[in-house]
Amino acid sequence: MMNIGLLGFGVVGRGVYEQALQREDMSVQRILVRRDIPEIAALATRNFEDIVTDPTIDTVIEVLGGLHPAYEYICAALQAGKNVVTANKAVVSAYYNQLTSLAREHGAALRCTAAVGGGIPWLVNLERCRRLDTVERVSGIMNGTSNYIMDAMHKAPVSFDEILKKAQDLGYAEADPSADIDGDDIRRKLVISANIAFDTQLAEESVPMFGIRTVTDGDIAAFRSAGYVCKLIATAQRTAQGVAAWLEPTLLGTSALEAAVPANYNLISFDSAYLGRQSYYGQGAGRFPTASNVTQDCLDILAGQRHFYAGEGTALPLDNSAICHSYYVRTSAPDAWLTRHTVGQLGGGILTDSVSVEEMHAWVQGQLQRDNHCFIAAVTK
Ligand SMILES: NC(=O)c1ccc[n+]([C@@H]2O[C@H](COP(=O)([O-])OP(=O)(O)OC[C@H]3O[C@@H](n4cnc5c(N)ncnc54)[C@H](OP(=O)(O)O)[C@@H]3O)[C@@H](O)[C@H]2O)c1
Repeated sequence: MMNIGLLGFGVVGRGVYEQALQREDMSVQRILVRRDIPEIAALATRNFEDIVTDPTIDTVIEVLGGLHPAYEYICAALQAGKNVVTANKAVVSAYYNQLTSLAREHGAALRCTAAVGGGIPWLVNLERCRRLDTVERVSGIMNGTSNYIMDAMHKAPVSFDEILKKAQDLGYAEADPSADIDGDDIRRKLVISANIAFDTQLAEESVPMFGIRTVTDGDIAAFRSAGYVCKLIATAQRTAQGVAAWLEPTLLGTSALEAAVPANYNLISFDSAYLGRQSYYGQGAGRFPTASNVTQDCLDILAGQRHFYAGEGTALPLDNSAICHSYYVRTSAPDAWLTRHTVGQLGGGILTDSVSVEEMHAWVQGQLQRDNHCFIAAVTK
């Protein structure tokens, strides 16, 4: 029997609670809240100490979100020898070393399957793969909101602002959509995946990203007429120098698996020596998909799981200088660097020769100061 202290009773917390109610091997003992919720009044507390000092509670589920106090609560739970399950990608990505070391030190389980891919059993399968095989690359569509926007813009001519508003009305996008459309949410998931896949410790801020905030219906029309589908793709791979990791809009051929991912679905893949490419597709968010992966983590702990997905990593250098491809660039203020690299035209934008990810992302950060509507997309076909 698992006795649970549940931190948070929002979208995911309520789903976990309802799933636990249906099981005889899981019992939610206390729930941390910050306002009155009548239906759980008997279990509710506003004081985390009530949970961390309760010797009958063996597992803490953190579904508060955000960095603080989630980080402090997870640390305190692990230090008290309690197992921790979390869906919080922000805290796991930002404090990866601290949290995984603490779990190891205290012999407690730390699981976060729902943090990457919501309901998709991605991290558990990445863990299975890496214990036997060498993972060479992880990549894919890791954010449902941005995929919903890109998918809708390909299906019918619609402006980015219009479709973003629709996504907000449907509850897919937050009032402040920046984490979804600028890439921060994806970058956290990429960092966690890459750290597990490659036994490393990437720092979130070191991974360059370019989101979809500046894509226009004109860009999409040009991509479609040239037989491309544009998706926001995150990639991390082993290189001779260490690890390369980045995320950017990417033009794919219509036969690519990622090109067919509709609405707010996710598709995440690894490439490994024995298995080749294996892809995981499904709902990257939502109450019951996400709660299911949290509950599954609890069942794994009940079955004896006492580990994080990977051992202690070493900080491999992040180096994107050897990853080169052509780019689509649309800007109203081309400079000498861009002119030097221009080899063709696509709609209102230009196509570059092969440029490294490192060089392009450094250039475009500067370019956004001169033209904040500028848009880039990798051309990998
Ligand atoms: N929703 C998804 O589909 C999804 C998918 C994958 C991962 N996740 C992750 O799961 C976590 C939870 O997400 P969610 O969608 O369930 O968020 P949510 O609906 O906002 O729920 C969070 C809950 O925690 C409560 N809370 C926050 N800080 C608190 C504190 N200091 N003390 C007590 N209660 C506190 C909030 O209370 P109030 O109601 O008073 O604000 C809210 O009820 C996040 O890390 C998120 O990234 C979510």
